[in-house]
Amino acid sequence: MELRLTDVNPVERYKLLIGLVIPRPIAWISTVNEAGVNNCAPFSFFNVLSEEPPLCVTSFNVRSDGLTKHTLKNIHRTGEYVVNLVDESTADAMHLSSYEYPEEESEFEKTGLTPAPCTVVKHPRIAEAAASFECRVWKRMEIGPGREFVFGEILVVHAREGVIDPASKRISETAYRPIGRLFAGRYCTTRQRFDLPGGIAGLPPDA
Ligand SMILES: Cc1cc2nc3c(=O)[nH]c(=O)nc-3n(C[C@H](O)[C@H](O)[C@H](O)COP(=O)(O)O)c2cc1C
Repeated sequence: MELRLTDVNPVERYKLLIGLVIPRPIAWISTVNEAGVNNCAPFSFFNVLSEEPPLCVTSFNVRSDGLTKHTLKNIHRTGEYVVNLVDESTADAMHLSSYEYPEEESEFEKTGLTPAPCTVVKHPRIAEAAASFECRVWKRMEIGPGREFVFGEILVVHAREGVIDPASKRISETAYRPIGRLFAGRYCTTRQRFDLPGGIAGLPPDA
């Protein structure tokens, strides 16, 4: 089969790309808004790009009402954010936090997560996360209507006890059990695929 992406509509294009490029890592981004409400949401158009400088990139589209995602608003306002890494124990909370809650409601409260202070950035990290990156915006790129790339410089790494070996800096395969995004509510561990229940607001209806 051969497909020219110009002949494929955007929803089909989305399905092709997110179905073929799997598993994708998930940036579970935590921020706080101007009113002090802690926010978190997952983003799987995400990856690390380089270690010198240490950069990651996340791609944002708009909410289903066409407005800017709360996470991106908080990033624009402060130039900072936190990327938390998702493992098997936090998968459910991550998935639930993708719902489009109103700005005054906190995904931390909705999902029972604990905000923990960061060292350099003003946003909270997720205490339950396997690891977290404190990030400062390195560059922003508007690439189309309602689509923006945010490149972040990773300033500080936090990890749950046992995840990083203090001497070698290697990551423990037994302590770190990451999950990846497949498509819609489908995810994978490093051993198998699984579903998390519930629809996801903000994605194409049949994604
Ligand atoms: C696993 C997963 C990955 C997602 N990846 C992205 C993404 O890469 N870019 C994006 O704009 N939205 C993505 N979403 C949707 C956002 O998480 C969702 O729009 C969320 O409500 C945004 O919250 P906010 O408005 O509080 O920032 C993803 C959702 C899930 C469940």
